[in-house]
This record gives sequence, structure tokens and C-alpha cells, in this order.
Amino acid sequence: MSGSRIRILIVDDVAESRDNVEKLLRFEPDVEVVGKAERGKEGINRAVELTPDVVLMDINMPDMDGIAATTEIMTRVPSTAVIMMSVQNEPDVLRRAMLAGAREFLSKPFSLDELIEAVRHVSKLARPAAQTASPMAFDGTAELTHRSPTDAKVLSVVTSKGGVGRTFLSVNLAVALRNLTKKEVIILDANTHFGDVGVMMNSGDAKTIADIVDQAHSLDAELMDDVLFTHPSGVRMLLSPPTPQVAETVTADHMRAALNVLTQMADYVVVDTRPGFDDTMLTIMDASERMLLMLTMEMTSIKDTTQFLEIAALLGYQRERICLVLNRHNSYSGIPTRDISENLGREIEFQIPEDVQAALHSINEGSPLVYSRPEHRISQEIRRLASSMADVEAPESTDGPERSRSGGRLMSRLRTAFRPS
Ligand SMILES: Nc1ncnc2c1ncn2[C@@H]1O[C@H](COP(=O)(O)OP(=O)(O)OP(=O)(O)O)[C@@H](O)[C@H]1O
Ligand SMILES: [Mg+2]
Repeated sequence: MSGSRIRILIVDDVAESRDNVEKLLRFEPDVEVVGKAERGKEGINRAVELTPDVVLMDINMPDMDGIAATTEIMTRVPSTAVIMMSVQNEPDVLRRAMLAGAREFLSKPFSLDELIEAVRHVSKLARPAAQTASPMAFDGTAELTHRSPTDAKVLSVVTSKGGVGRTFLSVNLAVALRNLTKKEVIILDANTHFGDVGVMMNSGDAKTIADIVDQAHSLDAELMDDVLFTHPSGVRMLLSPPTPQVAETVTADHMRAALNVLTQMADYVVVDTRPGFDDTMLTIMDASERMLLMLTMEMTSIKDTTQFLEIAALLGYQRERICLVLNRHNSYSGIPTRDISENLGREIEFQIPEDVQAALHSINEGSPLVYSRPEHRISQEIRRLASSMADVEAPESTDGPERSRSGGRLMSRLRTAFRPS
């Protein structure tokens, strides 16, 4: 076993931090700390001498910061994968770390689970496939299985920041795909700590991914069937845990194993994600045939989207896998869509109109707009998006009656939607 252990070099100027990381890793059978360094330059020399599989690199160090040291290591020992560790996790630091060649970013303080997941993830990227672990294991070693032609098309809805309308689009897109294709559509709520798919789909206290973590060491379709919630539209979903505390039990490996099984069960898997480029997000992005990158007409959203696109390019995701979706399109933002598009250097393929009242009602009623108001202009644009993703013609608008909306249900939903932990 020792021959295939992941060899790690720790570079951190604080002795206590170095020792803590070493202690955390001591009982992991598949990793081995082969060296430690307390300065950036020393880190470079040790990396050249030891050629470790993974370097755990602090950012703030007195002689040379971790980002400069990473740039040098990537030139001199390109086979090494660098994981950056820092208390600063602002997008700009993350971006600079990625530009320097870091593969992962750990926000201090981190848990053993986060550390070991990051180490295993980056080392797998650098190692030949034959050395990777069993595809379906639900025990911390699951690797994403290779796509087969019968596997689902994975469409992830991604944003550079929160509150842009990711969940709103995810649920509506899923219903639109189901209506258009009549095929099996499953939503994976990958926003483990603050997932809202259940609330937007009125799932009550349905089971969640946390229920499989507790039960299983290996996951299959039968077990998955038991935890999926079905919406009246026919869309099924694997919900996120009921509370952030329970979400702590769900790791990136659980998410990877779940995604593996869902892609074998469905024709389309729509993934509602979360901002950032952690291990779970990279797994989802790797699996996605298309990433729907949402933005709004705000300066901050445009800036963050530019950075997202830059990081995605650095991480090697092909340009055509990312499709820009402008949400809350309006005529009063002061920034024309054309200017946004020019600024990003890319076409904005879809523009979902803004309608605060309609969006609010549909969320509060737990009924996606595409389902309850199929003729609404937001529903029409999302249907156009769905038909493009599914490669089918969108049917002509029928101008049929909208389904009735019941404000009276709202109070009882408020009482049932939020369960005490
Ligand atoms: N097209 C739209 N028109 C008007 N309001 C919208 C539209 N899309 C989304 N919203 C509003 O934006 C808010 C955020 O939506 P949503 O919860 O889907 O965002 P999110 O990106 O999933 O947020 P989080 O980061 O919290 O997961 C909601 O209040 C919703 O009503
Ligand atoms: Mg959300």
C-alpha cells in the first residue's frame, strides 16, 4: 500500500499549523507526510527535492507568499498538485491562487474531512485512472464513474455569488424539461447547507440525501428511489439535508456517489449548486455537459461572473460547456445587455425577465412558475432554454388559462416548510 500512498509536503510558517495538519493526516492509511517547510523558498526547494504528489501551501508567509511559491513550484515540479490553505477566501485571492496553478483552496480552519477530500481529489486528478478507487463506494472513496451514452445529461446551474436565482431556475428548468420531453428528470440539490429546492417544490418533510448517508455503505437505484421526492409534474429530486448541522454529515464523496447513481437513473439531472470551487463543485462541474452560468444586471454580478469564467478556463473547462443566462432582465438597470455581453466577451444566450411578484408568489407557494403559470414570460424563456438543452422544439404558446394560485395555502406552508432540527 505504501507505494501508492499520496505523498504530501506541508508549507506553513506557523509551526502549530504544520503540526495540526500533520496530526490530522496521521491516521489516514492512504497519505503520508514526506516533508515540512516553514518558508516559501524552502518550500520550493523541498518540492524539487521530494517531488511530492500534493503540496499543502499556506498563503501568508514572511519571505515569499504561497501564491508566488506555487507559481515557481508549478514550473519546476509540474507533476505536483498544490492545495492552497488560507484564512482569506475572497474571490480575488482564490483567483490569484488558481492563476498560480493551485488545484484546490481550503479555507482555514478546515476539518479533517475537508482536508482529506481535497487531498484525494487533487491527487486523483494527477494520477492515472487505474489507481483510483471504486466508483460506487459510499464510504469516502467514491470516484465519478465514466459517462456512458445511456447516462443522464447533467445540467448544472452555477453562479459566482448567492441570491442570483439559481434555485428558481433549477426547479423551473427541471419542470420544463419534464414537460417537453416526458423523460425522467431528477434535481440534485447540491447546496448541502442551505438548499432551497425542497421549499420551492413544496416537499414538506420528505427524505433527503442525509438519510442515505446514515444507512448505506454502497448506494444503488433501489435505495435512491426510496429517498427521492416526486413533484406532481413528475420531476423527482434528491433534497439537501433539513438543517446545516445535519448537512455536516454529507461529504463531497457522498455527493459524487449520489450523482453517479442519479445519472444512471435519469435522462436529465439538473444540479442546483452553490458558489465557490470546492471539491463538490468541481465534481459537479466535471460531470456537467452544460453549466448554466447565471448572472444579473448588477456590476457586482458581472465582475464576479468575469472571474468565474477566468477560473473555469484556468481549470480547463471548455468554453462551450458554459452557457450564460441573464436573470432578472429589466430595462432600468442602466447597463444594456449588449454591454454586459461585450464586457464578458461572450454571448448571453438566455434572458429571463424580471417579475418580482410572480417569482415571489411561486416561491412562497412552492410551485414552480413553469408549472403553475406556463404562459408567463419567465416560463416561456425557461422553456426555450430547456428545449435548447434537450435539443427539442419548444411547443408554440397556447395562451391557455393559467393554473389557479391559492394565497390561502401560504400560511399552512409556512408552518410545515420549516422543521425544527
Ligand atoms: N426572474 C426573476 N424575477 C424576479 N425575481 C427573481 C427572479 N429570479 C429570482 N428572483 C428572486 O431572487 C431571489 C433569489 O432567488 P433564489 O433563491 O433562486 O436564488 P439563489 O441563487 O438560489 O440563492 P442562494 O444563494 O440563497 O441559494 C428570490 O427572492 C426570487 O424571488
Ligand atoms: Mg438557492
